[in-house]
Amino acid sequence: MTAVTARAHTNIALVKYWGKADTKLMLPQTSSLSLTLDQFYTDTTVNFVSDLTADEVVLNGQRLTPTASQKVRHVLDLVRQQSDETRFARVSSTNHVPTAAGLASSASAFAALAGAASRSAGLNLSRTDLSRLARRGSGSATRSIFGGFVEWQAGIDDATSLAVPFQEQVDWPIAMVALVLDPRHKKVSSTQGMQSSVTTSPYYPAWKTVVADDLAAIKPAILAQDFTTTGEILEANAMRMHALTLSANPPFSYFNGESLAAMQTVRDLRASGVSCYYTLDAGPNVKVFCQEADLPAVTTRLAAQFGADQVIVAHPGPGIAFL
Ligand code: ADP
Ligand code: DP6
Ligand code: CO
Repeated sequence: MTAVTARAHTNIALVKYWGKADTKLMLPQTSSLSLTLDQFYTDTTVNFVSDLTADEVVLNGQRLTPTASQKVRHVLDLVRQQSDETRFARVSSTNHVPTAAGLASSASAFAALAGAASRSAGLNLSRTDLSRLARRGSGSATRSIFGGFVEWQAGIDDATSLAVPFQEQVDWPIAMVALVLDPRHKKVSSTQGMQSSVTTSPYYPAWKTVVADDLAAIKPAILAQDFTTTGEILEANAMRMHALTLSANPPFSYFNGESLAAMQTVRDLRASGVSCYYTLDAGPNVKVFCQEADLPAVTTRLAAQFGADQVIVAHPGPGIAFL
Protein backbone atom coordinates (compact mmCIF):
# COMPACT_ATOMS: atom_id res chain seq x y z
CA MET A 1 0.00 0.00 0.00
CA THR A 2 1.52 3.29 -1.05
CA ALA A 3 -0.45 6.45 -0.70
CA VAL A 4 0.92 9.12 -3.05
CA THR A 5 0.06 12.81 -2.89
CA ALA A 6 0.52 15.15 -5.84
CA ARG A 7 0.02 18.89 -6.15
CA ALA A 8 -0.85 20.55 -9.44
CA HIS A 9 -1.66 24.19 -10.14
CA THR A 10 -4.42 25.59 -12.32
CA ASN A 11 -3.68 27.33 -15.58
CA ILE A 12 -5.30 30.15 -17.47
CA ALA A 13 -5.49 29.73 -21.23
CA LEU A 14 -4.23 32.70 -23.25
CA VAL A 15 -5.27 30.97 -26.48
CA LYS A 16 -8.16 28.79 -25.47
CA TYR A 17 -9.25 25.20 -25.95
CA TRP A 18 -12.97 25.23 -26.67
CA GLY A 19 -14.12 22.06 -28.38
CA LYS A 20 -13.30 18.40 -28.75
CA ALA A 21 -12.64 16.51 -31.95
CA ASP A 22 -12.95 13.19 -30.09
CA THR A 23 -14.95 13.18 -26.85
CA LYS A 24 -13.85 9.68 -25.90
CA LEU A 25 -10.11 10.17 -26.28
CA MET A 26 -10.41 13.86 -25.33
CA LEU A 27 -8.68 15.11 -28.45
CA PRO A 28 -9.21 18.83 -28.96
CA GLN A 29 -10.28 20.64 -32.12
CA THR A 30 -7.27 22.96 -31.81
CA SER A 31 -4.02 23.41 -29.94
CA SER A 32 -4.00 25.91 -27.05
CA LEU A 33 -1.55 27.83 -24.86
CA SER A 34 -1.73 28.67 -21.16
CA LEU A 35 0.04 30.11 -18.15
CA THR A 36 0.18 27.98 -14.99
CA LEU A 37 -0.74 30.04 -11.90
CA ASP A 38 0.95 29.95 -8.49
CA GLN A 39 -2.07 30.88 -6.36
CA PHE A 40 -4.54 28.12 -7.24
CA TYR A 41 -3.91 24.39 -6.88
CA THR A 42 -5.23 20.94 -5.99
CA ASP A 43 -3.69 18.38 -3.65
CA THR A 44 -4.77 14.80 -4.33
CA THR A 45 -3.86 11.61 -2.48
CA VAL A 46 -4.46 8.20 -4.07
CA ASN A 47 -4.12 4.84 -2.37
CA PHE A 48 -5.04 1.51 -3.98
CA VAL A 49 -6.37 -0.75 -1.20
CA SER A 50 -7.88 -4.22 -0.77
CA ASP A 51 -10.81 -3.27 1.44
CA LEU A 52 -12.91 -1.45 -1.18
CA THR A 53 -15.48 -2.80 -3.65
CA ALA A 54 -15.51 0.44 -5.69
CA ASP A 55 -13.35 3.55 -6.02
CA GLU A 56 -14.01 6.05 -3.25
CA VAL A 57 -13.57 9.72 -4.13
CA VAL A 58 -13.66 12.47 -1.52
CA LEU A 59 -13.46 16.11 -2.64
CA ASN A 60 -13.00 18.81 0.00
CA GLY A 61 -14.11 16.34 2.66
CA GLN A 62 -17.32 15.30 0.86
CA ARG A 63 -17.80 11.86 -0.69
CA LEU A 64 -18.65 12.22 -4.40
CA THR A 65 -21.58 10.28 -5.86
CA PRO A 66 -20.80 7.71 -8.58
CA THR A 67 -22.01 10.21 -11.20
CA ALA A 68 -19.88 13.06 -9.86
CA SER A 69 -16.80 10.84 -9.69
CA GLN A 70 -17.20 9.34 -13.17
CA LYS A 71 -14.23 11.13 -14.75
CA VAL A 72 -12.02 10.34 -11.77
CA ARG A 73 -12.93 6.66 -12.02
CA HIS A 74 -12.25 6.74 -15.76
CA VAL A 75 -8.69 7.97 -15.11
CA LEU A 76 -8.24 5.30 -12.39
CA ASP A 77 -9.39 2.65 -14.89
CA LEU A 78 -6.78 3.83 -17.39
CA VAL A 79 -4.09 3.63 -14.68
CA ARG A 80 -5.17 0.08 -13.78
CA GLN A 81 -5.00 -0.88 -17.48
CA GLN A 82 -1.47 0.49 -17.79
CA SER A 83 -0.16 -1.06 -14.55
CA ASP A 84 -0.25 -4.26 -12.51
CA GLU A 85 -2.68 -2.65 -10.08
CA THR A 86 -6.14 -4.24 -9.95
CA ARG A 87 -7.49 -2.92 -6.65
CA PHE A 88 -9.86 -0.02 -6.12
CA ALA A 89 -8.57 3.31 -4.90
CA ARG A 90 -9.24 5.67 -2.07
CA VAL A 91 -8.92 9.20 -3.49
CA SER A 92 -8.91 12.32 -1.37
CA SER A 93 -8.62 15.71 -3.01
CA THR A 94 -8.57 19.28 -1.77
CA ASN A 95 -9.08 22.21 -4.11
CA HIS A 96 -7.32 25.43 -3.20
CA VAL A 97 -9.44 27.06 -5.87
CA PRO A 98 -13.24 27.40 -6.17
CA THR A 99 -14.67 24.25 -7.77
CA ALA A 100 -16.46 24.49 -11.13
CA ALA A 101 -16.48 28.30 -11.17
CA GLY A 102 -14.41 28.96 -14.27
CA LEU A 103 -11.14 29.08 -12.34
CA ALA A 104 -9.93 25.81 -13.88
CA SER A 105 -10.40 23.44 -10.93
CA SER A 106 -10.66 20.57 -13.43
CA ALA A 107 -7.18 21.42 -14.74
CA SER A 108 -5.39 21.22 -11.39
CA ALA A 109 -7.64 18.35 -10.25
CA PHE A 110 -6.97 15.94 -13.09
CA ALA A 111 -3.29 16.82 -13.36
CA ALA A 112 -2.85 16.03 -9.65
CA LEU A 113 -4.94 12.87 -10.01
CA ALA A 114 -2.90 11.61 -12.98
CA GLY A 115 0.30 12.08 -10.99
CA ALA A 116 -0.89 10.58 -7.72
CA ALA A 117 -2.78 7.64 -9.25
CA SER A 118 -0.05 6.59 -11.67
CA ARG A 119 2.68 6.71 -9.02
CA SER A 120 0.54 4.96 -6.45
CA ALA A 121 0.02 2.14 -8.96
CA GLY A 122 3.78 1.79 -9.39
CA LEU A 123 4.06 3.57 -12.74
CA ASN A 124 6.84 6.07 -13.27
CA LEU A 125 5.44 8.10 -16.17
CA SER A 126 7.32 10.91 -17.88
CA ARG A 127 5.73 14.33 -17.63
CA THR A 128 4.71 14.01 -21.27
CA ASP A 129 2.86 10.78 -20.52
CA LEU A 130 1.34 12.35 -17.41
CA SER A 131 -0.02 15.14 -19.61
CA ARG A 132 -1.63 12.54 -21.87
CA LEU A 133 -3.18 10.76 -18.89
CA ALA A 134 -4.43 14.02 -17.31
CA ARG A 135 -6.04 14.87 -20.65
CA ARG A 136 -8.36 11.88 -20.30
CA GLY A 137 -9.93 13.50 -17.21
CA SER A 138 -10.12 17.10 -18.42
CA GLY A 139 -8.59 18.73 -21.48
CA SER A 140 -7.17 21.75 -19.67
CA ALA A 141 -5.45 19.38 -17.18
CA THR A 142 -3.08 18.35 -19.98
CA ARG A 143 -1.31 21.72 -19.62
CA SER A 144 -1.23 21.77 -15.78
CA ILE A 145 1.50 19.12 -15.64
CA PHE A 146 4.01 21.81 -16.60
CA GLY A 147 4.76 25.23 -15.12
CA GLY A 148 4.96 28.59 -16.86
CA PHE A 149 3.75 28.96 -20.45
CA VAL A 150 2.55 25.62 -21.82
CA GLU A 151 1.23 24.50 -25.19
CA TRP A 152 -1.22 21.64 -25.58
CA GLN A 153 -0.49 20.29 -29.03
CA ALA A 154 -3.77 18.97 -30.40
CA GLY A 155 -2.18 15.96 -32.11
CA ILE A 156 -4.13 13.42 -34.09
CA ASP A 157 -4.51 10.55 -31.62
CA ASP A 158 -3.97 9.53 -28.00
CA ALA A 159 -0.21 9.26 -28.47
CA THR A 160 0.26 12.69 -30.02
CA SER A 161 -2.15 14.92 -28.07
CA LEU A 162 0.04 16.22 -25.25
CA ALA A 163 1.50 19.21 -23.47
CA VAL A 164 4.86 20.72 -24.30
CA PRO A 165 6.45 23.36 -22.08
CA PHE A 166 6.76 26.56 -24.07
CA GLN A 167 8.62 28.49 -21.36
CA GLU A 168 8.78 26.84 -17.93
CA GLN A 169 10.91 29.44 -16.16
CA VAL A 170 9.20 32.76 -16.72
CA ASP A 171 11.63 35.62 -16.39
CA TRP A 172 9.11 38.33 -17.22
CA PRO A 173 7.60 40.62 -14.55
CA ILE A 174 3.96 39.95 -15.35
CA ALA A 175 0.98 39.06 -13.18
CA MET A 176 -2.49 37.59 -13.60
CA VAL A 177 -4.96 39.22 -11.21
CA ALA A 178 -7.94 36.97 -10.53
CA LEU A 179 -11.18 38.74 -9.74
CA VAL A 180 -13.43 36.22 -8.00
CA LEU A 181 -16.92 37.56 -8.66
CA ASP A 182 -18.89 34.37 -8.06
CA PRO A 183 -17.26 31.21 -6.64
CA ARG A 184 -20.40 29.09 -7.06
CA HIS A 185 -20.71 26.15 -9.45
CA LYS A 186 -21.51 27.16 -13.02
CA LYS A 187 -24.77 25.99 -14.58
CA VAL A 188 -23.22 24.82 -17.84
CA SER A 189 -20.05 22.74 -17.37
CA SER A 190 -17.10 23.39 -19.69
CA THR A 191 -17.67 19.97 -21.23
CA GLN A 192 -21.30 20.75 -22.10
CA GLY A 193 -20.61 24.33 -23.14
CA MET A 194 -17.88 23.51 -25.62
CA GLN A 195 -19.80 20.56 -27.09
CA SER A 196 -22.79 22.79 -27.72
CA SER A 197 -20.52 25.40 -29.34
CA VAL A 198 -18.90 22.83 -31.66
CA THR A 199 -22.18 21.37 -32.81
CA THR A 200 -24.38 24.47 -33.05
CA SER A 201 -22.37 27.68 -33.46
CA PRO A 202 -22.12 28.79 -37.10
CA TYR A 203 -18.91 30.59 -36.08
CA TYR A 204 -17.10 27.40 -35.07
CA PRO A 205 -15.11 27.02 -38.33
CA ALA A 206 -13.89 30.62 -37.98
CA TRP A 207 -12.79 29.90 -34.38
CA LYS A 208 -10.35 27.27 -35.63
CA THR A 209 -8.71 29.83 -37.90
CA VAL A 210 -8.64 32.38 -35.05
CA VAL A 211 -6.81 29.93 -32.78
CA ALA A 212 -4.23 29.00 -35.42
CA ASP A 213 -3.51 32.68 -36.10
CA ASP A 214 -3.43 33.62 -32.39
CA LEU A 215 -1.06 30.77 -31.52
CA ALA A 216 1.30 31.73 -34.31
CA ALA A 217 1.28 35.36 -33.16
CA ILE A 218 1.39 34.95 -29.37
CA LYS A 219 4.42 32.67 -29.25
CA PRO A 220 6.92 35.20 -30.63
CA ALA A 221 5.24 37.91 -28.55
CA ILE A 222 5.82 35.90 -25.33
CA LEU A 223 9.42 35.14 -26.27
CA ALA A 224 10.02 38.84 -26.98
CA GLN A 225 8.21 39.78 -23.72
CA ASP A 226 6.00 42.02 -25.87
CA PHE A 227 3.32 42.80 -23.30
CA THR A 228 0.98 44.80 -25.55
CA THR A 229 0.85 42.21 -28.33
CA THR A 230 0.43 39.33 -25.86
CA GLY A 231 -2.34 41.21 -24.06
CA GLU A 232 -4.19 42.18 -27.24
CA ILE A 233 -4.15 38.58 -28.47
CA LEU A 234 -5.29 36.98 -25.20
CA GLU A 235 -8.15 39.45 -24.75
CA ALA A 236 -9.44 39.08 -28.30
CA ASN A 237 -9.09 35.30 -28.15
CA ALA A 238 -11.16 35.12 -24.96
CA MET A 239 -13.93 37.27 -26.43
CA ARG A 240 -14.03 35.19 -29.58
CA MET A 241 -14.36 32.04 -27.48
CA HIS A 242 -17.26 33.57 -25.57
CA ALA A 243 -18.84 34.59 -28.89
CA LEU A 244 -19.22 30.85 -29.51
CA THR A 245 -21.49 30.53 -26.48
CA LEU A 246 -23.59 33.54 -27.50
CA SER A 247 -23.91 32.11 -31.02
CA ALA A 248 -24.77 28.56 -29.91
CA ASN A 249 -28.27 27.11 -30.09
CA PRO A 250 -29.65 27.59 -27.48
CA PRO A 251 -27.48 30.63 -26.75
CA PHE A 252 -25.85 30.90 -23.35
CA SER A 253 -23.20 32.94 -21.59
CA TYR A 254 -20.78 32.51 -18.70
CA PHE A 255 -20.71 36.27 -18.02
CA ASN A 256 -22.65 37.93 -15.24
CA GLY A 257 -23.28 41.67 -14.85
CA GLU A 258 -20.15 42.14 -12.79
CA SER A 259 -18.02 40.38 -15.42
CA LEU A 260 -19.16 42.98 -17.95
CA ALA A 261 -18.47 45.79 -15.47
CA ALA A 262 -14.98 44.43 -14.78
CA MET A 263 -14.19 44.25 -18.50
CA GLN A 264 -15.20 47.91 -18.81
CA THR A 265 -12.99 48.78 -15.85
CA VAL A 266 -10.01 47.17 -17.57
CA ARG A 267 -10.72 49.21 -20.70
CA ASP A 268 -11.03 52.35 -18.53
CA LEU A 269 -7.71 51.56 -16.84
CA ARG A 270 -6.14 51.23 -20.28
CA ALA A 271 -7.60 54.53 -21.42
CA SER A 272 -6.07 56.16 -18.33
CA GLY A 273 -2.62 54.83 -19.25
CA VAL A 274 -2.47 51.58 -17.21
CA SER A 275 -1.77 48.81 -19.68
CA CYS A 276 -3.77 45.67 -18.78
CA TYR A 277 -5.94 43.09 -20.54
CA TYR A 278 -8.71 40.70 -19.47
CA THR A 279 -9.57 37.10 -20.11
CA LEU A 280 -12.33 34.79 -18.83
CA ASP A 281 -12.60 31.02 -18.89
CA ALA A 282 -15.92 29.19 -18.66
CA GLY A 283 -17.29 31.19 -15.74
CA PRO A 284 -18.00 34.78 -14.65
CA ASN A 285 -14.65 35.37 -12.96
CA VAL A 286 -12.30 37.78 -14.71
CA LYS A 287 -8.50 37.54 -14.87
CA VAL A 288 -6.48 40.64 -15.60
CA PHE A 289 -3.07 40.35 -17.25
CA CYS A 290 -0.76 43.17 -16.23
CA GLN A 291 2.84 44.11 -15.66
CA GLU A 292 4.27 43.86 -12.15
CA ALA A 293 4.87 47.63 -12.04
CA ASP A 294 1.17 48.29 -12.67
CA LEU A 295 -0.11 45.89 -9.96
CA PRO A 296 -0.80 48.66 -7.40
CA ALA A 297 -2.91 50.64 -9.89
CA VAL A 298 -4.79 47.55 -11.10
CA THR A 299 -5.48 45.98 -7.71
CA THR A 300 -6.44 49.30 -6.06
CA ARG A 301 -9.00 49.97 -8.76
CA LEU A 302 -10.46 46.44 -8.75
CA ALA A 303 -10.54 46.29 -4.94
CA ALA A 304 -12.36 49.64 -4.75
CA GLN A 305 -15.02 48.43 -7.16
CA PHE A 306 -15.43 44.76 -6.20
CA GLY A 307 -13.93 44.40 -2.71
CA ALA A 308 -10.37 43.60 -1.68
CA ASP A 309 -11.21 40.00 -0.75
CA GLN A 310 -12.26 39.33 -4.34
CA VAL A 311 -8.86 40.27 -5.77
CA ILE A 312 -6.13 37.59 -5.85
CA VAL A 313 -2.76 38.37 -7.40
CA ALA A 314 -1.30 35.35 -9.19
CA HIS A 315 2.05 34.87 -10.91
CA PRO A 316 3.49 32.14 -13.12
CA GLY A 317 3.34 28.86 -11.21
CA PRO A 318 5.17 25.53 -11.16
CA GLY A 319 4.39 22.18 -12.72
CA ILE A 320 3.27 19.04 -10.90
CA ALA A 321 5.03 18.11 -7.67
CA PHE A 322 4.87 15.07 -5.42
CA LEU A 323 4.49 15.85 -1.74
P1 ADP B 1 -13.71 24.48 -13.82
O1 ADP B 1 -13.94 25.83 -14.43
O2 ADP B 1 -13.60 24.58 -12.33
O3 ADP B 1 -12.57 23.74 -14.44
P2 ADP B 1 -15.31 22.40 -15.09
O4 ADP B 1 -16.74 22.45 -15.50
O5 ADP B 1 -14.31 22.28 -16.16
O6 ADP B 1 -15.04 23.67 -14.15
O7 ADP B 1 -15.04 21.17 -14.13
C1 ADP B 1 -15.60 21.13 -12.85
C2 ADP B 1 -15.76 19.69 -12.45
O8 ADP B 1 -14.49 19.06 -12.30
C3 ADP B 1 -16.41 19.54 -11.08
O9 ADP B 1 -17.80 19.62 -11.17
C4 ADP B 1 -15.93 18.14 -10.67
O10 ADP B 1 -16.70 17.17 -11.30
C5 ADP B 1 -14.55 18.09 -11.29
N1 ADP B 1 -13.54 18.39 -10.26
C6 ADP B 1 -13.08 19.60 -9.88
N2 ADP B 1 -12.15 19.49 -8.92
C7 ADP B 1 -12.02 18.17 -8.67
C8 ADP B 1 -11.20 17.40 -7.77
N3 ADP B 1 -10.29 18.00 -6.99
N4 ADP B 1 -11.33 16.07 -7.79
C9 ADP B 1 -12.21 15.47 -8.62
N5 ADP B 1 -13.01 16.12 -9.48
C10 ADP B 1 -12.92 17.46 -9.51
C1 DP6 C 1 -12.51 27.92 -21.19
O1 DP6 C 1 -10.72 21.47 -19.74
O2 DP6 C 1 -12.54 22.29 -18.23
O3 DP6 C 1 -11.00 26.98 -19.62
O4 DP6 C 1 -12.01 18.98 -21.23
O5 DP6 C 1 -14.46 19.04 -20.90
O6 DP6 C 1 -12.93 18.91 -18.92
P1 DP6 C 1 -13.13 19.39 -20.33
O7 DP6 C 1 -13.13 20.98 -20.26
P2 DP6 C 1 -12.10 21.97 -19.60
O8 DP6 C 1 -12.30 23.26 -20.52
C2 DP6 C 1 -11.50 24.39 -20.40
C3 DP6 C 1 -12.07 25.50 -21.20
C4 DP6 C 1 -11.45 26.86 -20.94
C5 DP6 C 1 -10.31 27.14 -21.91
C6 DP6 C 1 -9.00 26.46 -21.64
O9 DP6 C 1 -8.68 26.15 -20.49
O10 DP6 C 1 -8.24 26.27 -22.62
CO1 CO D 1 -12.41 22.98 -16.34
